[in-house]
Amino acid sequence: MIATEIRNGIYGISVNDRTTDLFEGLWPIEKEGVTYNSYIIDDEKKILIDLIKEFKTDELLENIGEIFDPAELDIIVMNHMEPDHTGAVKTVMRIAPKAIIYCTPKAVPMLEQFYGLTERIHPVADGEILNIGKRELTFVHTPFVHWPETMMTYSGTDKVLFSCDAFGGYGALNGFNFDDECTDIEYYKKESLRYYSNIVAKFSKPVLTAIGKLDGVPIEVIAPSHGLIWRKNPAHIVELYSKWAGYADGRAEVGVTLLYGSMYGNTERMMNFMAKGVASAGVPVEIFDVARTHTSYILPSLWSKRGVIIGAPTYEGALFPAMASKLEEAAIKRVMGKKTVVFGSHGWSGGALKRIKEIIDPVKWDIVDTIQFNGGPTEADLDAAVECGKKFAESLAD
Ligand code: FEO
Repeated sequence: MIATEIRNGIYGISVNDRTTDLFEGLWPIEKEGVTYNSYIIDDEKKILIDLIKEFKTDELLENIGEIFDPAELDIIVMNHMEPDHTGAVKTVMRIAPKAIIYCTPKAVPMLEQFYGLTERIHPVADGEILNIGKRELTFVHTPFVHWPETMMTYSGTDKVLFSCDAFGGYGALNGFNFDDECTDIEYYKKESLRYYSNIVAKFSKPVLTAIGKLDGVPIEVIAPSHGLIWRKNPAHIVELYSKWAGYADGRAEVGVTLLYGSMYGNTERMMNFMAKGVASAGVPVEIFDVARTHTSYILPSLWSKRGVIIGAPTYEGALFPAMASKLEEAAIKRVMGKKTVVFGSHGWSGGALKRIKEIIDPVKWDIVDTIQFNGGPTEADLDAAVECGKKFAESLAD
């Protein structure tokens, strides 16, 4: 991909990764892909902002070479140490003998721990300003968006914010770089929410703090290190991140995530009646078979909806394992404060409900109703499920 001009002298390099199957070794992106965005500023000083995953180093160097010889680099701004933005650093530092890394003080020991780098490093203070010729860069510390050492870089001359992970999303870019060129913005917004719920959501408070720090700063372009560059409507992605961060206490949109697992169809049968009840109240419901759906695709719904219905059988005296792992992962991601209904089938003994409570109590999910049945559901159980789903859905508007 050819470097894209964002402003006179500022270029974006969006390298598509369509071969990594799991982002962070965990989150599926084999269908969607992802981009690693680096930025170049060709001023009196030659600047590279954020790098790229190691295996794409050649592509990064080739793109820089379209603007200037990488050996001429003066400064590498490292907004964030995670290896998807730093993997190329050892090679780039070797090729560019006068380059100095600008990063937060917290990133300095990480440079040694991850890459053995201890020299040509300049730690920047929060709000530090660097004159690079025709423009000044301001470094804004934004800890825990996404790691403790994270910062953003702002060019006031150009009104461009290089925000790193913040305001990013999954999804390789299909021949475009900017929001105004994108032909399916809804897809990228959906992938931004999946990315937010998978990667950033746990740090929602720091996200709101970072957005607060940007209040009043004139921004015409949001240039994140994953996904679209927002130049037509940069406020939109900030508003979305702000909205999603606001869901951290669980009081999100009126809607239900219905999680179910079923061994022989009894809990699944009940699930359909529960969903019918929710739908009859006019409340949106998203349904996930937990044994067949990766948590990555469930988290956006859990994060953005107030209600969760959990349908799972007892399995060997405990909770159906696929449901246990989904709920445990949701708890790790700090999906907090959901209103919940639990139902499920058991054979000779219960046990599922007890384990569900153990997992969700620490994240303050409130179980407002339960239906447990032995073997298959009776007609009375199915009627009760419709009524329960309806009542639960109606209660979410409170
Ligand atoms: Fe895209 Fe936290 O790295």
